[in-house]
Amino acid sequence: MQKENIRLGIFGFGCVGQGLYQVLQQTQGIRADIARICIKNPDKPRPIATDLFTTDRALILDDPTIDVVVELIDDAEAAFEIVTTALSRGKAVVSANKKMIAEHLEELVALQKEHGVPLLYEGSCCASIPIIRNLEEYYDNDLLTSVEGIFNGSTNYILTKIFDEGLDFQTALKEAQDLGFAETDPSLDIEGWDPKYKLVITLLHAFGVIVSPEDVFHFGIHRINDHDIAFARQRGLRIKLLAQCQRQEDRIHAYVLPKLINGQSHLTDVNHEYNGVVLESAFSESQLFVGKGAGDRPTGSAVLSDISALTYQYKYEYKKRTQGQGAGLSQESHPLKLYIRYEEEQDLNWEDFLSIEERYQSQSHRYVIGTIDLNTLAQAEWLQHEHINILGL
Ligand code: HSE
Repeated sequence: MQKENIRLGIFGFGCVGQGLYQVLQQTQGIRADIARICIKNPDKPRPIATDLFTTDRALILDDPTIDVVVELIDDAEAAFEIVTTALSRGKAVVSANKKMIAEHLEELVALQKEHGVPLLYEGSCCASIPIIRNLEEYYDNDLLTSVEGIFNGSTNYILTKIFDEGLDFQTALKEAQDLGFAETDPSLDIEGWDPKYKLVITLLHAFGVIVSPEDVFHFGIHRINDHDIAFARQRGLRIKLLAQCQRQEDRIHAYVLPKLINGQSHLTDVNHEYNGVVLESAFSESQLFVGKGAGDRPTGSAVLSDISALTYQYKYEYKKRTQGQGAGLSQESHPLKLYIRYEEEQDLNWEDFLSIEERYQSQSHRYVIGTIDLNTLAQAEWLQHEHINILGL
C-alpha cells in the first residue's frame, strides 16, 4: 500500500531554505510536501510568492499533522530551542546548523533516544558530500584511523582566488559572501570556527566521541598575508584550511589549521567552494570524497537526502559509541611541524619549540620552521599577537 507523503514544517528561508525549496520542486518521487515555512521577517522580499509562509512557529510545532521539522535558520540558540521542542513533541528533525549541533551533541543524542525520533544533519558537514552517513554506515566495521579534509567552502574559495587569480583577501571574501557561501558572520569561516564545528560532528560519527568545540584547537586563514603567499609559491605549495582528526590507539588528536600542501596531497586540486575529505582506514586505506561544500543547492541536496531517508525511517545509530569503540580526545604528544611568521624575536616563546629546522630574517618579516606539540600550541599566548601567522607543513 502506498504510504502518505510526510509533511514538512520548515524554519528559515535563507540560502539553504531556498535551495531546499528548489531541489524539492525539481525532484520527482520524493514523498514529502511542504506544509508551512516559518520566517522571521514578513517584510523581507522573498523570491517566491506562497501562502505557506508564517511568522508563528506554533503553526508548525503545535501542528500534529506535521511529521518533520526542517531547521535551517542562522541563529544557533534559537535553532536549539526549535529542535529540542520538535524532538520532545515526537517530530523528526533535519538540521544543517553545525554550530548548534556541535555545541549540543550530548543533549541531542539523548533527546532522540528519549523520544524515539531521529535528528538527521548531513547538510551540516561538507554540504553535498555524504560524509556522515558514510561514516555511520559504510565505515561501521572498518578500522578508521584518520579523517582529514577541507571542511569550509568559503575559505577554500578565498584561497583559490588568491593563489590562482591573484585576488586580494577582502575582494575574495566579498565574492564568497555574494555567492552565499560565507556565514552571516564571516569570521566563523575565516577564523576556522565553522570547520571546527563540522570536525566535532565528524568525530562522533568517525570515532564515537563527543567533545566540546572549546576543547579542539583551531586557527584560521585570517592572518595570511603576502609574505605567506610568497613563501608558499616559492616552494611550489598551496595553502588549504584543513580539519583533521586521527586515532592512535585510545587517543584522538583533532584540530583545524591552515596547511601548506604539495601536489602529492589528494586535496591540492580541490578548489573554489569544493570540499574534500580523505579517510584513512586499516583495510580500505586512503579514500577521497569531493563535492561542493557550500551554496544553496548543494546544501539543499543534502537536506533533501535526509528528508528522503526519513521516509524509510532512517536514523543514526551512533554505532561507534554504542559498540564501545569510543576513545578520548588528547592534545599531548602530537608534534606539529609549523611555518611561523613573526616580527620581533621576543614575539615568540622559543622554549615552546621541540626543534627548529630553518630561520629566515629580512627587513620586512621573519619566519621560523620548527616543531611544536599541539598541546603547547593550544596554550601559547604568543599566538594572540595579530602579526603572527602559523601554517602547518
Ligand atoms: N560557510 C560555510 C562554508 C557554509 O563556507 O563552508 C557551508 O557549511
